[in-house]
Amino acid sequence: MKIVVITGSPRKRGNSFAMTDAFAAEAERLGNTVQRFDAALMKIGGCHACETCFKTGKACSFDDDFNLIAPAILEADAVVFTMPVYWYSIPAQIKGVIDRLFSFVVGGKPIAGKKCGLIACCEEDDLSVMDGVRMPIERSAALLQWEMAGEVLVPGVLKEGDIDKTDGCKQAAALAHKF
Ligand SMILES: Cc1cc2nc3c(=O)[nH]c(=O)nc-3n(C[C@H](O)[C@H](O)[C@H](O)COP(=O)(O)O)c2cc1C
Repeated sequence: MKIVVITGSPRKRGNSFAMTDAFAAEAERLGNTVQRFDAALMKIGGCHACETCFKTGKACSFDDDFNLIAPAILEADAVVFTMPVYWYSIPAQIKGVIDRLFSFVVGGKPIAGKKCGLIACCEEDDLSVMDGVRMPIERSAALLQWEMAGEVLVPGVLKEGDIDKTDGCKQAAALAHKF
């Protein structure tokens, strides 16, 4: 499978990146190709709702790094989002990518039938803190007719390296077996 992985943390040595690495390594070991985009390290704005998607030859008329990710999503068999929870929600850095999935809908591009995954983490111990990330991803996947292959949700991690005190990376590697 061609798996596109889109990360949302700005911390290169952070918890969600560690899980992303574990997922990607196992996915590649199983014979998949993994193309990774670190949204927080790219220049990606929000959706302007101009509905001119794909009319200029590119997914978005506002030409930033989303237009590098869009062709990869179109070709992918699966899309995996990885991120920390920011204020009970999706970090702005990756939300721009998610909002601009709108371009495929407006542009009438065939993107149904993909698999989708989610890897997320947060400081608080309460799993319901993940709801603000989990629910929009699940509902967006349903609308796009993407099948949720699996989710890894790890609460209780704050500082870089905290993930090593959990089985988060092991869970992320196991997620690769669901694609
Ligand atoms: C701006 C910001 C907002 C955050 N908001 C929350 C939150 O609402 N709930 C929570 O449990 N943790 C919150 N956190 C903590 C992160 O989710 C946590 O540190 C996570 O492990 C970071 O993942 P990373 O290392 O992959 O960046 C927040 C962190 C930042 C920087």
